[in-house]
Amino acid sequence: MDGEVRISPYLSGNFAPVRTEDDFELEVVGEIPAGLRGALYRNGPNPQYEPRDPNYHWFTGDGMIHGFFVRDGKVSYRNRWVRTPKWELEHAAGQSLFGTFGNPMTTDPDAFGKDSGAANTNIVWHGGKLLALEEAHAPFSLDPDSLEPRGYADFGGKVTAHPKTDPITGELVFFGYADSQMPLSPMVSYGVADKDGRLLRRETFEAPYSSMVHDFIVTENHVLFPILPLTGSLERAMGGKPPFAWEPEKPALVGLMRRDENTTKIRWFNTDACYVFHVMNAWEEDGKIVADVMKYKAAPLFPLADGRRGEQCGAYLVRWTFDLSNASNAIQEEQLDDMPGEFPRYDERFTFQKNRHGWFAGQTTTPGDIRTNTLAHIDLQTGKRTDWFTGPGDAVSEPVFTHRSADAPEGDGWITAVVYRAAENRSELAVFDAQDLVAGPIATARVPRRVPFGFHGNWVDGR
Ligand SMILES: [Fe+2]
Repeated sequence: MDGEVRISPYLSGNFAPVRTEDDFELEVVGEIPAGLRGALYRNGPNPQYEPRDPNYHWFTGDGMIHGFFVRDGKVSYRNRWVRTPKWELEHAAGQSLFGTFGNPMTTDPDAFGKDSGAANTNIVWHGGKLLALEEAHAPFSLDPDSLEPRGYADFGGKVTAHPKTDPITGELVFFGYADSQMPLSPMVSYGVADKDGRLLRRETFEAPYSSMVHDFIVTENHVLFPILPLTGSLERAMGGKPPFAWEPEKPALVGLMRRDENTTKIRWFNTDACYVFHVMNAWEEDGKIVADVMKYKAAPLFPLADGRRGEQCGAYLVRWTFDLSNASNAIQEEQLDDMPGEFPRYDERFTFQKNRHGWFAGQTTTPGDIRTNTLAHIDLQTGKRTDWFTGPGDAVSEPVFTHRSADAPEGDGWITAVVYRAAENRSELAVFDAQDLVAGPIATARVPRRVPFGFHGNWVDGR
């Protein structure tokens, strides 16, 4: 397919898929810390075949897992497609069959009504299973070593790519949007599975309108559902317009529910038009809910309702406060940093607690460009940010924190991320001291080819 004129920007450069599944022992430069033992799993879209939709969107390519296995100072790499029913169906057909976001206008009639799950967004460990997640379908289970398929996990239906693990109960708390037989509906589900992955509850409510809901906020006693004006519309899609579009004239809402209540009791807070893909951490403090989020003033990566390109801007780390004792439903907001970025992470031992340390991938040259080129650490107590720049033209993935030991202080450990070296068209795993990013990687492990840009990764100890 190389040399063919490609229409979608998500099929060129390091967005383009790799079409081989490989096992490599990586060349290590520097010294992998002795205490770092486990696997960094990353997930991202990697279409098996050329998409049939000229408006192919990055969010819809087949998931591919890139596993970096770190043992005894050595690093091995394995990548495999997530063999979902969609992947198998298209593999048998020898071509792509599904339209972007299930758009019937660009779907082959042979695929109507078939499962279009791509399992391409996140990869988490829960209940003894490695789960590839994508927000419009159920989690797909993989063998943690071979990455071979183990089939869907049953959580009663769709599960967000950003479930939260309750550190007190071990429960997996999740939601699913557009959760009905009708595509792009305003129905949202809320669910909880126990620490072993057994579904405990699941219920569905109608949101004020159909919105793409990528992430949500969970604290010890509350759950909050952002309904922000990146809207879905089947009617619009059937008219040849975008299935999802930025409609800032619609209200920006966040629905708050007590976790011991049900979805008939949601209080709707509001703010100015904005979009949030990702939440860093959230906690409860003096009758308030506090959440640090990466906020855009306009949703990137999506057009306006008439199909025109919308404003492209970066996201900034802001602190949202929901005052439960105040009659006002306005969300209070404070900007925490001035570097545009994405993929906020923290030391997840401090989930539901006020955390001091946060990390994100920054973009220092072109706000709104999703090819992030900087790793940033922010001290939320002092507001001081320190960072490491990849170098011109290079890019870096989401930073994933791993603690040095179970009882190490907050933020004491390592950051792992995948760096793309543009001049050599290859990628490498980079390991940093989590609180000294400025010093650069303490070790890198070189992949002999590139690893396409992806979304999320997580570290699993001891794999
Ligand atoms: Fe995400």
